[in-house]
Amino acid sequence: MQEFSPIIAGTMTWGQWGKNLDTKAMASRIDACVALGITTFDHADIYGGYTTEAEFGDAFTASGAKRESVQFISKCGIQYPCDARPLAVKHYDYSPKHLKNSVAQSLKNLHTDYLDLLLLHRPSPLMDYALVVETLEDLVQEGSILAWGVSNFTPSQLQLLKAYQKPQWNQIECSVTHTSPLLDGTLDTHQQLQIGTMAWSPLGSYFKNSDEITQRLTACMTPLLEKYHCDASQLLLAWLRKHPAGILPVVGTTTPERLKDAMAATKIDLSLEDWFTLTEASWGHRFP
Ligand SMILES: NC(=O)c1ccc[n+]([C@@H]2O[C@H](COP(=O)([O-])OP(=O)(O)OC[C@H]3O[C@@H](n4cnc5c(N)ncnc54)[C@H](OP(=O)(O)O)[C@@H]3O)[C@@H](O)[C@H]2O)c1
Repeated sequence: MQEFSPIIAGTMTWGQWGKNLDTKAMASRIDACVALGITTFDHADIYGGYTTEAEFGDAFTASGAKRESVQFISKCGIQYPCDARPLAVKHYDYSPKHLKNSVAQSLKNLHTDYLDLLLLHRPSPLMDYALVVETLEDLVQEGSILAWGVSNFTPSQLQLLKAYQKPQWNQIECSVTHTSPLLDGTLDTHQQLQIGTMAWSPLGSYFKNSDEITQRLTACMTPLLEKYHCDASQLLLAWLRKHPAGILPVVGTTTPERLKDAMAATKIDLSLEDWFTLTEASWGHRFP
């Protein structure tokens, strides 16, 4: 299986979908990540309305990072209506032509001749699994991608895909406030089939909402912050990393200090009791 850093830097909000970092600011984030050991960068063709990959590519050239010292993940398959693509409707396209064109464009944008990992961004009801696997294996053979995986696939979709070829990774939404993958068979299937797990939005809704879940978590975390000498974001990452599926968090922060905190969180070994306490605080009820 391809190796990635224990914390992955998600680039979704580096450009037009968030912080609008210019080339210099992006290059300094890239250098900061690499210095911390965050060597894997998560992209998708659609980020920033098909603009962020190319901005990142220019910034990478301006940075001090070496291509062979980092890993690029990108995703494809979503046809997203925006200025760059005035489509009538958002849809998913996993035809061989679209997959190959999309990878070629990502390579051009990122100024590289290979992706370390290509992910199918979302499962499509109309996907021809056999044809998709054949196309992905062609891309591996020609060296454009070193490996492929999926994102947001359910256990049954993983099983169906495995009948043709097992994906190396599934990138899913998972956090202490989004625990369904622990209960709906997703993480069981990952472990059974030895599919690696990446978690997007690893901090969940904690910093986005001030609802009852956040209030319960804040109350339960207060003594833990002192116990583990850390902040709330680090506890949320430590909760995720405690799971035996070996989850790699894809963090969205663009703040250098928070990237450093995320890396430091990999050293926290949350106790069994504290893990269950946090989960119960999120749920608002006890384990059976
Ligand atoms: N595969 C998929 O379908 C999919 C879907 C969505 C996302 N993703 C990937 O996952 C990545 C991460 O997603 P995400 O951005 O939702 O992840 P996240 O890491 O859970 O959330 C990041 C957000 O939390 C804020 N934050 C972090 N620490 C904080 C703190 N201590 N206090 C207050 N705010 C804090 C960040 O703000 P600052 O930037 O200001 O620090 C940022 O807005 C994306 O970049 C993308 O690569 C994949």
